[in-house]
Amino acid sequence: MKIFKKIMMPAAVVVVSAVFAPEIFAQRITAEEVESKSKDEFIDGLLGRMTVDEKIGQLNLPSYGNVKPDAKKSDIAGRITRGEVGGIFNIFGVDDIRALQEVAVEESRLGIPIIIGADICQGYKTTFPVPLALSCSWKPENIEEVARISAREVSTDGVCWTYSPMVDISRDARWGRVKEGAGEDPYLGSLMAAAWVRGYQSDDLSADTTIMACVKHFALYGASESGRDYNPVDMSRVTAMNYYMQPYKAAVDAGVGSVMTSFNEFESVPATGNSWLLRDILREEWGFEGFVVSDYTAIKEMVSHGVGNQDEVSLQAFKAGVDMDMIADFYDGSLKRLLDEGKISEKELDAACRRMLVAKYDLGLFHNPYRYCNPERGEKELRSAANLAASRRIAAESYVLLKNDGDLLPLDGVKKVAVVGPLADSRANMCGSWAKDAVTGEYNGLVENLRKALGAGVEVVYARGCNLVDDEKYEYNFTSREINKRGDGKELLAEALKVVNGADVIIAAMGEAEAMSGEGASRAILEMPDCQKTLMDALDATGIPVAMVLFTGRPLALERQAAQADAVLNVWMGGSEAGAAIADVLTGKVNPSAKLTMSFPRVTGQCPIYYNHKNTGRPMAPEAWYTRYVSNYIDVPNEPLYPFGYGLSYTEYEYGQVNLSSDEMTADGTIEASVVVTNAGQRDGEEIVQLYLRDMVRSVTPPVMELKDYKRIALKAGESRTVTFNIDVNDLKFFNSVLDYVAEPGEFTVMIGGNSLDVESAKFVLK
Ligand code: NOJ
Repeated sequence: MKIFKKIMMPAAVVVVSAVFAPEIFAQRITAEEVESKSKDEFIDGLLGRMTVDEKIGQLNLPSYGNVKPDAKKSDIAGRITRGEVGGIFNIFGVDDIRALQEVAVEESRLGIPIIIGADICQGYKTTFPVPLALSCSWKPENIEEVARISAREVSTDGVCWTYSPMVDISRDARWGRVKEGAGEDPYLGSLMAAAWVRGYQSDDLSADTTIMACVKHFALYGASESGRDYNPVDMSRVTAMNYYMQPYKAAVDAGVGSVMTSFNEFESVPATGNSWLLRDILREEWGFEGFVVSDYTAIKEMVSHGVGNQDEVSLQAFKAGVDMDMIADFYDGSLKRLLDEGKISEKELDAACRRMLVAKYDLGLFHNPYRYCNPERGEKELRSAANLAASRRIAAESYVLLKNDGDLLPLDGVKKVAVVGPLADSRANMCGSWAKDAVTGEYNGLVENLRKALGAGVEVVYARGCNLVDDEKYEYNFTSREINKRGDGKELLAEALKVVNGADVIIAAMGEAEAMSGEGASRAILEMPDCQKTLMDALDATGIPVAMVLFTGRPLALERQAAQADAVLNVWMGGSEAGAAIADVLTGKVNPSAKLTMSFPRVTGQCPIYYNHKNTGRPMAPEAWYTRYVSNYIDVPNEPLYPFGYGLSYTEYEYGQVNLSSDEMTADGTIEASVVVTNAGQRDGEEIVQLYLRDMVRSVTPPVMELKDYKRIALKAGESRTVTFNIDVNDLKFFNSVLDYVAEPGEFTVMIGGNSLDVESAKFVLK
């Protein structure tokens, strides 16, 4: 694997010399040993002098939790000294991390360093848009840059291992965690997964500025039944392999160092103890060589799943291939007994322990356990001007323009702008839920950024307009960082209507607070909260044009509000520079070019909704809405409100016919598919030209279309360009009923367009 590179660095830190150490430290790792031996020799030698308890200790990942004034006197420090801990997470602050690393290196018998993990999923001190938003740029290079900056920043503060990327394909916006992934498409999701890994790990994991990635949640967590978090997943292996597994595999192919299991069950077996997932696919089929960590208490949760007691579930997880136990302390309590009873062998224990030691070796921790504690570099890099500038650019590139009637945006020639809505003056709601280290006081809000961007000649007024949600307890629960003082609904609305008086345009900043999506934040109703609906009705009734700025962590069902608004800009949760980036787009400094990577339903009942669905035996005719006895609803159309791949720009693009270089292809040949795309508007812009294929007949039912490639092109106003895609047999492959990856001869439809519902097509035959 790429990450297992030879370490070139000299030993920078010498651990306490054995000569002066008491007898107990006689077997401690020495700098000389690290330097003089090959990786395998070193690890063999170390394993050979570890006790069973020390080996089990390496598989244990507790949370720091018990913050004490003196880290060295904490309970965890005691456990580290006794060799019971392989790594720690939920510990923040380089001083405490360094202190505990000192305990590991200087006070434990062998001096094995600990690995320090954290959920660095959308930046560290500089935060970036939530991953779902990032994916909407369709720019893997943006994600790589985000991961790179995250790694550079957090590696100054002691962390060398991140629980990112999350690559769970999700088709159901009720699930709160959709915002942590790249949406519904396996192809795009795979590109993004690999980009995250490249960004974090680069090609030298031992460098001080790179950290180990952990792809999660293996596997299929995004398909939890009815969108409820932690719920079972049940699907065929064919569906799993064709749609859901691809991004995990892409991360493995990119050299990801670790994999995290998921909370859900699959085929009635908890994923954390599922040997088909963890052994057959991950290790044997894909050749993954890194280590597997459970999700938080996931081994313990197998007891609640109902598959056994502590020893039984520990045995099942261990045998399935989970190396490290996050938080549960089940391995700590059970593995020794299981070994004594002959249920696991020392060889198996050694294999798991070896994977942990290899990870630490590859991270360079044996050469220098303090290499990730670098506050001096941190002073230069954390929230540096360059990082914040990248955050601003990348945020603007993730905002999706969903509607823009009458070219209301960008704001032009306006004299008075009214910014209204419960999220209009928010800072905390911009960072997203995995930005635990974000100092929200350092964020700038939308109102002040708009004032700055529009200049002194434009009056920008503000009113909150309504509470976030009607229910006080609900609002309290879901505004974790920023507790709004609730107002009287009627008074807030009256004030807003007064404030908007005479405005040329209303910017309605509404949607979800950051804690309304994320882990444990599934929603059964994807609509705007009632009080926000009332506000929108009232703003609409004023007759003043309304541009909705939609903050959200997921697709929402906002058919009525989208109809009321003249323009809708979806800004997700945009990170440190969200406010400035929103102003950049609203004022036209940046022409939006992002496209949705998850379908927006019209109503919640359409979920799960996704573009690469099956035709069924009774498909709905494209022009029809309701026909009896075909696959549709009697009350709403099948189509989403906004489809996958959709997003507008301040200019317009026109697509010509699809031309194919041939109408036949052989298994070793290629076909060129091309289309002329024209920027028919008045502004320069960037368009994401999308290539979809449909296999017309095959041995397992095909989806109606699948994204296979895309090109992002810059076009000047009035410019035309021929965009060409090469199609080869790899684009035509799928997993058949015995899970062979094959292409079957027959007819294929090529579709090219600016979103999944608006395409031009042509056909060819694979001979
Ligand atoms: C549980 C979450 O599912 C996972 O994504 C996260 O990395 C761990 N907790 C650790 O915080």
